[in-house]
Amino acid sequence: MSDSVTSTHTVPVSTGLVALTGVNKHFGDLHVLKDINLSISKGEVVVVIGPSGSGKSTLCRAINRLEPIDTGTITLDGQPLPSEGKALAKLRADVGMVFQSFNLFAHKTILQNVTLGPLKVRKLGAKQAEQRAMELLERVGVANQAQKFPAQLSGGQQQRVAIARALAMDPKVILFDEPTSALDPEMIQEVLEVMVDLARQDMTMVVVTHEMGFARSAANRVVFMADGEIVEEADPETFFTSPTSRRAQDFLGKILKH
Ligand SMILES: Nc1ncnc2c1ncn2[C@@H]1O[C@H](COP(=O)(O)OP(=O)(O)O)[C@@H](O)[C@H]1O
Ligand SMILES: [Mg+2]
Repeated sequence: MSDSVTSTHTVPVSTGLVALTGVNKHFGDLHVLKDINLSISKGEVVVVIGPSGSGKSTLCRAINRLEPIDTGTITLDGQPLPSEGKALAKLRADVGMVFQSFNLFAHKTILQNVTLGPLKVRKLGAKQAEQRAMELLERVGVANQAQKFPAQLSGGQQQRVAIARALAMDPKVILFDEPTSALDPEMIQEVLEVMVDLARQDMTMVVVTHEMGFARSAANRVVFMADGEIVEEADPETFFTSPTSRRAQDFLGKILKH
């Protein structure tokens, strides 16, 4: 890490719930995040879109510190992300994550998947954790599956459990990394509906997705990434109807053909 980057200018104080300032990240020679500046307000829904390999997943992973960054700062509620220990465990609870591949614990029941974090990290009592988990499973429409194991559920159901699991921690923000791209088409909608609902209830969300319907009905802002950079940002309608950058135009041209 070089001093030169941090000493050249004063980093402006950002008011966002999540704020990335001058964030750079390399994997060896590959510069995957290039001077990213992004501030996400409380209650805001930001859709991140862009070609494969543009750094979208790395961006999400950096926000809950699954990936350390090289330079720049990331803050949650004005506080720099902790790097270890209890503070890191708390950060992971405060910043929920929903992955493409569901990532449920295969040998735990649906109910146990949702109560585990609250019991271990939030130190909730067993009764309270179960009651809350059942409410959340109800909310995402899978309460009747509570005693089953993940493999007994459809992909759409599993993903809704993953959302309930994230919600059970009372997160300040939830990051969704292509939450519907591993799903059969008929299950995409049921997951998106749960996400639209969350957005309506003012959950702060960062959503990597190419689902334009979701972006149009739920996003406050679309952020377009290419080659590790934020190339363009706009409200969904503006972005999808009149993107200004050549790269966004090319990209939309490709995904709209499908
Ligand atoms: N752990 C890693 N080690 C090395 N290269 C990686 C790693 N993770 C991602 N990359 C590379 O970083 C770039 C950005 O990846 P990623 O953030 O996953 O992009 P996206 O989610 O937009 O497809 C890609 O070129 C990818 O191959
Ligand atoms: Mg990705």
